[in-house]
Amino acid sequence: MTSATSLFSPVESDLQLLTENLKKLVGARHPILYAAAEHLFGAGGKRLRPAVVLLISRATLPDQGVTPRHRRLAEITEMIHTASLVHDDVVDEAELRRGVPTVHSSFGNRVAVLAGDFLFAQASWYLANLDNLAVVKLLSEVIMDLAEGEIRQGLTQFDTGLSIEAYLDKSYYKTASLIANSAKAAGLLSEVSPEMADNLYRYGKHMGLAFQIVDDILDFTGSAESLGKPAGSDLKSGNLTAPALYALEEQPYLEAIIEREFTQEGDLEKALELVQTSQGLDRSRELAASHAKIAVEALADLPASDSRQALLRLTDYVLSRLY
Ligand code: IPE
Ligand code: IPE
Ligand code: MG
Ligand code: MG
Repeated sequence: MTSATSLFSPVESDLQLLTENLKKLVGARHPILYAAAEHLFGAGGKRLRPAVVLLISRATLPDQGVTPRHRRLAEITEMIHTASLVHDDVVDEAELRRGVPTVHSSFGNRVAVLAGDFLFAQASWYLANLDNLAVVKLLSEVIMDLAEGEIRQGLTQFDTGLSIEAYLDKSYYKTASLIANSAKAAGLLSEVSPEMADNLYRYGKHMGLAFQIVDDILDFTGSAESLGKPAGSDLKSGNLTAPALYALEEQPYLEAIIEREFTQEGDLEKALELVQTSQGLDRSRELAASHAKIAVEALADLPASDSRQALLRLTDYVLSRLY
């Protein structure tokens, strides 16, 4: 498997700097936040979203190096992402994230909710200070979308009537919106044409969808050790993702046990087995690959460079996590 690190080589030193900066920016206010920041930004996050922003910065302004405003945008995207994870782990009651105990399991729910709020608020403040109204609009919509995604997911737990389209919509809100809008925002900071800005958005959207579908497959096939977070928890909590939705089309009994919310002994194990023995995982892999392909096509007009190449290979990396 390609490691994310080797892939990010054009921006590796930028990412190191970003991690140090994030710890300082977030940790400066309060000992508890300092502890949470050390904990979160010191752990093994893949830093995919800031890497996309930094690579777009280099690919669109090849003669300039990464500008301070692109650096700040990259920090903002990772702050927003991390805030959403801290809150998501409270909602999901997850114990492990980035290979370390979650903020709420170390510091309690109250600290986790407040730390997440603080990260969102601080991201908004740095965002406003970029003094670019179009960029502020793109990223503040993302913060709304993240909440919308979590709410939609919460409202459709154990809903076996959920369509693949509704699942993809929810995944856009939860995951793809941040990558799409920060990719476009990186383009706007480089003053690219409106067409190129739309292409960057499309790249981020479809890469983000592929990424979420892959994450949902790994929840069925991975281990806690390899994922740095608990595996097998989506189905258990009634979060019906692509593999389960496809399996439902061919396994009528699966519908019955999901509808009764796994209340009888052995239900969950049976449900997992039905997903494994269906075409669900294969069809989900094809779905992820189809979105990765659209992402690649969206970069057709971006001038050739190492950074463009890395953006393209990132779509392979997303799919390669499956093997
Ligand atoms: C986790 O995102 C949440 C999803 C959208 C699946 P990442 O897998 O990028 O998490 P980190 O940042 O590497 O921890
Ligand atoms: C992570 O989503 C949170 C957001 C993207 C807002 P998931 O619930 O799918 O991710 P994991 O599985 O906890 O990392
Ligand atoms: Mg979760
Ligand atoms: Mg969740």
